Amino acid sequence: MGTILEFLGSDHHACDNVFASAEEAVARKEWDSARSLFDRFQAAMARHLAMEEDVLFPAFESRTGMSGGPTEVMRIEHAQLRDLLQAMADAVAAGNRDSYLGLSETLNMLMQQHNLKEENMLYPMSDRVLGAERDSVIREMDAHAI
Ligand SMILES: [Fe+2]
Ligand SMILES: [Fe+2]
Repeated sequence: MGTILEFLGSDHHACDNVFASAEEAVARKEWDSARSLFDRFQAAMARHLAMEEDVLFPAFESRTGMSGGPTEVMRIEHAQLRDLLQAMADAVAAGNRDSYLGLSETLNMLMQQHNLKEENMLYPMSDRVLGAERDSVIREMDAHAI
């Protein structure tokens, strides 16, 4: 079994790819395809955020005793991402290209900064502190349904 950095880092890339496809479809005003790609992006993000909030963060917090530290910052950023996703869902439903593209630019900036913090700090720290627990945390995230 690999590391948390590999498992969640590759999920970041999977989310990025469907994000980019949805954005391209909106830019071309291909609304049927835009809506189905956005639904896939929103579902992929919901699952990613849930794997972190429901499995990784609690494991990290109980292992380190740090609940007001990096995971708290990540949870606050997740709430900002969810707000933007909701606004993007409204824009794609309404067929509002300019609104969607403005929101998606903001989301992408926030998401890339967030992902870098996780990939450079939180995931490597988690790989270190979880030790023998790491494999079971990865298995639990892999099996996590939302
Ligand atoms: Fe996150
Ligand atoms: Fe993440």
